[in-house]
Amino acid sequence: MRVHVILLFCAYVSGQEPGPPPPLPAANEALVEQYKLALEAVFGVGIRLQAFLEGEERENFLVSPISATVILGQLILGAEGEFRKQLVELLALPKGHLYENENYYEKKKNVTFQLPYSTLHLQLASLVKKLEAANDTKKHFTLKQKSALFIDHSVKLNKTFKMNLQNFYNTKIKMFDFQNKQTEALSWINTWVSNNTRGLITSILPEPPSPTTLSIFANYIYFKADWELPFSHELNRDGLFSVTTTETIPVTYMLNFLEQIPYFESPEFRLISIPYVDQELGMYLILPNNDNPHKYDIKTFAQNLKSRQILDSLNQTRRKDVVVKIPKMSLRYSFSLLNQLKKYRAFKKTNIKINSTNVVDKLDDRVDAFNNFTKVDEKDVFLTGAALGAGLRVDDMIQQVAITVNEKGTEAAAVTAATIDYMGGSKNFVVDRPFIFFIRHEASGATLFWGTVSKPK
Ligand SMILES: *[C@@H]1O[C@H](CO)[C@@H](O)[C@H](O)[C@H]1NC(C)=O
Ligand SMILES: *[C@@H]1O[C@H](CO)[C@@H](O)[C@H](O)[C@H]1NC(C)=O
Ligand SMILES: *[C@@H]1O[C@H](CO)[C@@H](O)[C@H](O)[C@H]1NC(C)=O
Ligand SMILES: *[C@@H]1O[C@H](CO)[C@@H](O)[C@H](O)[C@H]1NC(C)=O
Ligand SMILES: *[C@@H]1O[C@H](CO)[C@@H](O)[C@H](O)[C@H]1NC(C)=O
Ligand SMILES: *[C@@H]1O[C@H](CO)[C@@H](O)[C@H](O)[C@H]1NC(C)=O
Ligand SMILES: *[C@@H]1O[C@H](CO)[C@@H](O)[C@H](O)[C@H]1NC(C)=O
Repeated sequence: MRVHVILLFCAYVSGQEPGPPPPLPAANEALVEQYKLALEAVFGVGIRLQAFLEGEERENFLVSPISATVILGQLILGAEGEFRKQLVELLALPKGHLYENENYYEKKKNVTFQLPYSTLHLQLASLVKKLEAANDTKKHFTLKQKSALFIDHSVKLNKTFKMNLQNFYNTKIKMFDFQNKQTEALSWINTWVSNNTRGLITSILPEPPSPTTLSIFANYIYFKADWELPFSHELNRDGLFSVTTTETIPVTYMLNFLEQIPYFESPEFRLISIPYVDQELGMYLILPNNDNPHKYDIKTFAQNLKSRQILDSLNQTRRKDVVVKIPKMSLRYSFSLLNQLKKYRAFKKTNIKINSTNVVDKLDDRVDAFNNFTKVDEKDVFLTGAALGAGLRVDDMIQQVAITVNEKGTEAAAVTAATIDYMGGSKNFVVDRPFIFFIRHEASGATLFWGTVSKPK
């Protein structure tokens, strides 16, 4: 027989008047200004990645808009002409100085080199560094993202391209004999990823690359953070998660009573944000309301959800006391960006009329149109500025994301929760059916992860 030990610690009963609620997490305007272009790109990509949901058969979906933006930024370094223009539009960047190669002077090496769209690269590289470095000072969250370019030994890289990749995106460049030694390449690449993520990600390539491979752009990101108020494993309960009206799966639920967290409800969905330590980051959860026709079809629900609605709801959150019940999860997801990029190229070649004038609505319109679009540009993707001679053919662009949601830090922590299924005056937020989540860096508003979960594991 199981014995649940429930510790009671309820600060509320003290009869003290609660003070005014703390302010909501807000963007730091100076920071937003400093990284404006990079943040717009991440935002634009984030919205478009929603469109990637279509055609994905898998139950869960997980992407990192920020590291997808890094891959696309890398492509810009080697792209020229029409393709560069398409990438810039995909990133929702202003066109301004786009078609010029700007001169960039690097002090350390005392060299000047050509850099397309330099502001983006400078900002994006420094934003990513800033997020990764947060780990060093506080040790409360780890964000590690790394990119690599694996190329066939027959390719002669353009020096400028290579230097830019290494300077801005800290990209590992490794040559392989893809034609004769695919299994060796597979094993090296997977070991490298596994070494770098302490085994969290064990394989980024599911199978040996084809013998005709010229290049693979790979990127992985993993993230680990402590909740501001840890969950206690003593309150965990086994329970059922409804995947559909008829299918349930067993999960372990974590319970917590969170005081004064951002909360929002509308006729369609409810949203909360569970803060990580120092409220530097928040995990936002969106749960369709019980009467929503798509409450089990979270992909359709997500597709219908306009980014404008999400932004507006973030603006309208209020601090509330919330009893939270969420499943423990460990999600891992890997996908190829290349097909989507090819679809986008074909899409760009057709004339799509966008009626909205506002930036966000315009993006939403484009995403709608993109969703309705099925054709894929069958032509290979070439980076003509990346290699000497024929240019570099991009054979794959892979992203792998790993994320764990657990009690973390809990074991030694005081339990600040009560019998919890009911707490007077608080909202209940029970995540026992499919949901959307995203993790946001509050000061910059950058979305680090975005996912829909139908079957937490
Ligand atoms: C940088 O290099 C140039 C020659 O390429 C040289 O004239 C100059 O003195 C160097 N500057 C520094 C600070 O080393
Ligand atoms: C982040 O901090 C953890 C814990 O202190 C450390 O083990 C890890 O190596 C750090 N990661 C990075 C990317 O600096
Ligand atoms: C992985 O780590 C092992 C042990 O430290 C090392 O011998 C090996 O060279 C590494 N492999 C790669 C591909 O990084
Ligand atoms: C949210 O609020 C801020 C500040 O009040 C405003 O600048 C911004 O436009 C709002 N965003 C949306 C999507 O309404
Ligand atoms: C834009 O307006 C035109 C004419 O008013 C209409 O035919 C078209 O469907 C609209 N496009 C979108 C994306 O709403
Ligand atoms: C996309 O298709 C949906 C449903 O078929 C339709 O309502 C919508 O207007 C279409 N959007 C565009 C931009 O064509
Ligand atoms: C390398 O690429 C840069 C930027 O695309 C270009 O300006 C330069 O001419 C290329 N160098 C060679 C040797 O092809």
